[in-house]
Amino acid sequence: MKTPVILLVALLALLAGCRSDSKQTQVEGQKKLTAFDDQVQQAMSGMTLDEKIGQMTQAEITGLKDDKDVGDYYLGSLLSGGNGDPKEGNSLKAWTDMYDKYQSLALKTRLGVPILYGVDAVHGHNNVLDAVIFPHNIGLGATRDSDLVRRVSQVTAEEVRATGINWTFAPCVAVPRDERWGRTYEGFGEDPELVKTLGEASVMGFQGADLRGPLSVLACAKHFAADGGTIWGTGALKAPDKPERWPLDRGDVKLSEAELREIHLQGYVTAINAGVGSIMPSYSSWNGVKCSGSKRLLTEILKGELGFEGFLISDYNAIDELPGDYKNDIETSINAGMDMVMVPNNYREFIRLLRELVDEGKVPMSRIDDAVRRILRVKFAMGLMDKGRSHMADRALHKRFGSPEHRQVARDAVRRSLVLLKNDNKALPLSKTFARIHIGGKNADDLGNQCGGWTIDWQGKSGELTTGGTTILKAIQGAVSASTKVTFSKDGSGADGADVGVVVIGETPYAEMMGDREDLSLSIEDLSAIDNMKKAGIPVVVILISGRPMIIEPALLKCDAFIAAWLPGTEGQGVADVLFGDYKPSGKLPHSWPQSVNQIPINVGDAMYTPLFKYGFGLSY
Ligand code: GLC
Repeated sequence: MKTPVILLVALLALLAGCRSDSKQTQVEGQKKLTAFDDQVQQAMSGMTLDEKIGQMTQAEITGLKDDKDVGDYYLGSLLSGGNGDPKEGNSLKAWTDMYDKYQSLALKTRLGVPILYGVDAVHGHNNVLDAVIFPHNIGLGATRDSDLVRRVSQVTAEEVRATGINWTFAPCVAVPRDERWGRTYEGFGEDPELVKTLGEASVMGFQGADLRGPLSVLACAKHFAADGGTIWGTGALKAPDKPERWPLDRGDVKLSEAELREIHLQGYVTAINAGVGSIMPSYSSWNGVKCSGSKRLLTEILKGELGFEGFLISDYNAIDELPGDYKNDIETSINAGMDMVMVPNNYREFIRLLRELVDEGKVPMSRIDDAVRRILRVKFAMGLMDKGRSHMADRALHKRFGSPEHRQVARDAVRRSLVLLKNDNKALPLSKTFARIHIGGKNADDLGNQCGGWTIDWQGKSGELTTGGTTILKAIQGAVSASTKVTFSKDGSGADGADVGVVVIGETPYAEMMGDREDLSLSIEDLSAIDNMKKAGIPVVVILISGRPMIIEPALLKCDAFIAAWLPGTEGQGVADVLFGDYKPSGKLPHSWPQSVNQIPINVGDAMYTPLFKYGFGLSY
């Protein structure tokens, strides 16, 4: 029977509609970035080459030769790196004043194009004192809860906007496959399915339903691509003139394109569908080619096939690591598809050399225009180009900065992130009316260790941290009845007579290559604290504070209960909530837990797969 033509036409229209629908609505209300192209074209028609190159340049505030350079070089963006605090000191006011100062300088230029100001708000507005510090992504991965992750990013965005800042270099959608990598904790987990789901949720949380919203910040999916797939021994050179390398960080990935797509690209597909406005190419290489200079990755796959309409921001001096001299680096990276370059200090040289490359015809004007078009699309989508709109910080947001409501969101995230690996003889939950609980371990009363890297300082630091927060010890003291005595000794001694001992052990803070480690065993200090607690002949609960699975069997055999708490951040009460059963543990492992370091890398789906605990494992009460 012939199908009436009218029916065929209707069917085709429906299909076309669906296809365009599926491409259209990344997030309800979020316009496609190309919808701004007419306005962008209008704005670009009046721009000089110097103004265009300025838009492609991001300097660090600590690298500015002169504040006037913001206007004199038409800089499109500034950043505060891991240690980029205001000269006036680290406070909410000082950060806000600093943002307003630099934005004002940008607005005084001929075209008055506002800057994008970027920071690594990767687990809260973690550079700023008294911001709420959330669990790092590995802990969020253990929650398996995309609504929670979206909420965490939303609260982070609000605290970032409280300082006026409008861009975060997050979420990291790495798929860390070798837990010896110092950035394992920055990823949600080893499974691409988990990473793509939580990465999408995080982008939507940061950017909101509409990028122009007063509480939205521009998100940045990073590091493209396969930053978590490098091979041991191929890390970046420790110094340009010496042969020593970091073991993994910024190393080389040896995968076919099919494997790369299957394992490491999923997070970018969903981030793009969620409307992410920026993506950061990785320092690392793929089959020997630096990602930051790979036209295949940046232009053909990311912009061409995946349809990314926003802009690419390089990592910190990442283009310097390309082969060749600096001018070659710029030519290679820009022609490969890099749109904005993070040149913390030598932005003047970068601008001069890029100008030369254009004048010499080595970087075509069409590439410059494509880069600037992408950057301005995002600035239009964020409302930054709206005339008559203030681009200064909204200080009304200060009253909710670090607020109890925000801390409650973080406490809930902490609860849900904990993974119960062992609970013999119903050691947990603890009673709040025990006569005495003895606490031990170097991480029991150390906010810095509890937060990990990227906290106040790039590397983080042990100790008080001088930021608001609650250690696990303080949280336990606050949770028990008035009649319960809580005693503490870092080495676990003096536990005799207590009803139960809780030993909090694990890692001290690190970030990036500084966390690359071959030996993931527990320290002698930690094992000794458990032994001392054990000597008292009481039930022993171990809590591991770490950015990744560690080699724990020696501790596991000695204790009655064991919780993996990852890097929970400032709200230690979330740990107490689980210890006392106010919240039943629900966390599931975001990484396979190796028996020994010889098993690493070990990932769900491996043919040979005999981990100590499988991916997804987690007990409850
Ligand atoms: C760092 C990191 C990147 C971060 C950037 C800016 O080296 O690789 O994740 O966003 O520099 O601090």
